[in-house]
Amino acid sequence: MVTQDTCKSNQNHPGHSEKAPLAQTRSSVLADMKAIDELALFGMLDLVGRWMQPGSARWTTADLVERLGVAPRHHWLIERWLTELAVYGLIDGDKVGWNCSYRPSRKQLRTIRTDMAQAASRLGYGPLFVQTLLESLRRSTELFRDEITIQSLFFPDGTIEFAKAIYETNAISRYLNTAAAEAIAALENRPIRVLELGAGIGGTTAAVAESDAAIDHYAYTDLSSWFLELGQQRFAEQLPISTHLLNIDEDFSHQLSGTGRPDQYDVVLAANVAHNAPDIGALLYRIRDVLRPGGYLMLIEMVEERPQALISMSYAISLPASYADPAILDSGSGLRRYDERRGSDRTLLAESEWQAHLAAANFDVRTLLPEPAHPLHPTSQRLFTAQMAS
Ligand SMILES: C[S@@+](CC[C@H](N)C(=O)[O-])C[C@H]1O[C@@H](n2cnc3c(N)ncnc32)[C@H](O)[C@@H]1O
Repeated sequence: MVTQDTCKSNQNHPGHSEKAPLAQTRSSVLADMKAIDELALFGMLDLVGRWMQPGSARWTTADLVERLGVAPRHHWLIERWLTELAVYGLIDGDKVGWNCSYRPSRKQLRTIRTDMAQAASRLGYGPLFVQTLLESLRRSTELFRDEITIQSLFFPDGTIEFAKAIYETNAISRYLNTAAAEAIAALENRPIRVLELGAGIGGTTAAVAESDAAIDHYAYTDLSSWFLELGQQRFAEQLPISTHLLNIDEDFSHQLSGTGRPDQYDVVLAANVAHNAPDIGALLYRIRDVLRPGGYLMLIEMVEERPQALISMSYAISLPASYADPAILDSGSGLRRYDERRGSDRTLLAESEWQAHLAAANFDVRTLLPEPAHPLHPTSQRLFTAQMAS
């Protein structure tokens, strides 16, 4: 039944396929998100139960690390799995010792997988998303041991279809990417200079390229040259694009010295990348340095940690094995964070934390989407459109 809060967004967006959902309600989206979380939680429980043997003596995280041969850089993640399972009441214990007294049955797991596949389909994620999450669960021992990388599962043979499912073609990505593109197209200051950080496969860039935005210059940047080549191939005919290696952890101006006016961007676009910065306050100041007065930051971020990430993206968060900063090792988390996440195993910031950081850096949040009543609000993904005070 179509109710008042039914979502009919993006039906005409190029990323929209015939099979994509056209009608979702807030409560159905919430239920679908929970179904995806359940797959992750019960998948983790199944593995942890197999590793620990239900009912046997208490295991410390160190016991488990040794038994599985977990690579040191992923120690934080195995601890996080256990903590998460305990938070959801699926295992008992704490850092002193864990006990797994229950393992889901094959039948229960099959039902959870079927429910999750249906939920993912309603949210527009498609079968590849489901297959890849199941594959990452199946291969978690190899992932924890660093025998394979999560990137090899996300980009098999260099293909980007899974990444598109995550960042471009699902319902919330289409909604947020289109909203960002429309906000850029609506800017009065024309023609527009855009700097995109961590552009990756270009999920958001694709929406800008399809919009009416009068772009004068589009700097497509990423930490990895592989994504720059991809961006060049995908967008060179649609956008006045230049590609640049840019690490968001370092001062931008010298990294953008080839772009002519590196301090006069109208828009800085950062979709699903800003949380990678170890110090969000410092990142916002680096962004301010390259925006013209009155320019905009468009920030797409997940604002809630969900179990789903723990079986997928989180492997990519672990610092490279070569990283050996004593301050980080001392912090106990194994992750490099210098803001409120310091010493914790958090990756993401909450909506209120982003708002506080933006205000502290003198940005006015003009819009925050989706609004609370919107059907896609329970996906926990947000677009902050923030203007730098002149
Ligand atoms: C989760 S992907 C998002 C991709 C893209 N923005 C999208 O939504 O389609 C994150 C991207 O940020 C890049 N990245 C990660 N850390 C970075 C850093 N420190 N500086 C710049 N880019 C970074 C990665 O290479 C990757 O392409």
